[in-house]
Amino acid sequence: MQKPLKLGIAGLGTVGAELVRILHAKNNELAERCGRAIAVSGVSARDQNKERGVNLASAEWFSDPVALASSDIDVYVELIGGEGGVALESVRAALTGGRHVVTANKALLARHGVELAKIAEANGVLLNYEAAVAGGIPVIKTMRESLTGNNVTRVYGIMNGTCNYILTRMEDDEISFEKCLADAQRLGYAEADPAFDIEGNDTAHKLALLTALSFGSEIAADEIYLEGITKITTEDIRAAKDLGYRIKLLGVAQKTDSGIESRVHPTMVPLSSPIANIGGVTNAVVIEADIVGELMMTGPGAGGAATASAVLGDIADIAKSRPGHQHGPAFGRPAALLDTYKRAKMRKHLGGYFIRLTVFDKTGVMAAIATRMSEQDISLESIVQRRDGPRGDARDKAPQTIILITHETHEEAIKLALEAIEADGYLAAEAQMIRIEDMG
Ligand code: NAP
Ligand code: HSE
Repeated sequence: MQKPLKLGIAGLGTVGAELVRILHAKNNELAERCGRAIAVSGVSARDQNKERGVNLASAEWFSDPVALASSDIDVYVELIGGEGGVALESVRAALTGGRHVVTANKALLARHGVELAKIAEANGVLLNYEAAVAGGIPVIKTMRESLTGNNVTRVYGIMNGTCNYILTRMEDDEISFEKCLADAQRLGYAEADPAFDIEGNDTAHKLALLTALSFGSEIAADEIYLEGITKITTEDIRAAKDLGYRIKLLGVAQKTDSGIESRVHPTMVPLSSPIANIGGVTNAVVIEADIVGELMMTGPGAGGAATASAVLGDIADIAKSRPGHQHGPAFGRPAALLDTYKRAKMRKHLGGYFIRLTVFDKTGVMAAIATRMSEQDISLESIVQRRDGPRGDARDKAPQTIILITHETHEEAIKLALEAIEADGYLAAEAQMIRIEDMG
């Protein structure tokens, strides 16, 4: 048998501690499957005295992850998080020093992925990051290896477990956004700063990686159109359901005539579509490509066990690889050959829209709304006046809710129509606009 594969694990939080636990529990099985033992040689975290529920006795402690990354190890496993700082420094040090890297850090890769891929290629080592997108779902391997012969036309999905968990519980249990988020944090799903989840940045980081893999373009996280879920109300969720839709935070990247349209936003999906029925922390990624057609992969998108499973798969790939028979470059083609990213403008986005208007109940309001829509050539699929809220006289005086569903139209037309409705003075609150995704 070959010599044991020596790991240096930096970060012993939700994912890192679970990884160490599994490596101990499955030690013999892994050695058999990989043809060599896997040993945790060194570890690093902030607090050496924290009780982590795992046995670290045989591993050397490093207070500095960069020192760990430069020590006598074969693979540096980065599970600290953050797009820069010590995570970046230590990964750079490991790759430059000829050590393989496994990371779950999508923020780091979305910002520095191409640079790190170039260093990995120059040093003949692997940069593996299966856990960085959609937790336990093996989507990176699928795109990087299995779909090499395909041209991808669209990739979309639910890529943030925290947001999907919040939206599901707001609908099923009718509990507040804040309580759902606190539960997601307690369960280990949320990022250290949960704003990354609920503002959509985490989905954008993952989508940036999938966009590069799909279209062979450079990673361009800052070019992604971004809206989180913080403005979604239980009223939107209820209205969507009444009209046959469910709201999901989707990341979508597709090729258009004017470039790549990459966007993250709350999205209405038909209740009958498979993705509408993906609940809780579960993620789903749909890939549309010329040869294979449509693939949908679902599975746990966050949490210690799901993420450690993906990290372990990346480590096992390295353990099984033999010199001269390693897997290819991090983003499916040599980093120097990635194309420049060309962004399509959101105002050219073509799709249906859900619009919720809170209006003063004045004569002529409906006619004015219909006129503003028709001025922009927007055809309406449905228009519903909802009479929720107070009863009796108070109800007659209270603002009313009007829900519109449009047929396919350009986003620019919707923006212009809403501006005109606002200027007419009928709105009692800001209009809510949610895009409807075409599910084919
Ligand atoms: P976490 O629970 O917050 O753990 C972070 C770990 O990093 C802690 O052990 C912390 O040490 C250590 N750390 C922080 N700063 C450090 C420093 N300067 N030097 C050394 N160690 C340092 O985070 P996590 O949830 O495990 O996530 C880790 C990574 O996996 C992140 O990139 C995250 O985005 C990614 N990820 C997480 C999930 C998930 O479901 N949690 C899923 C997919 C990907 P102390 O423990 O001593 O404070
Ligand atoms: N915070 C992330 C999520 C972790 O909720 O999906 C998995 O990447």
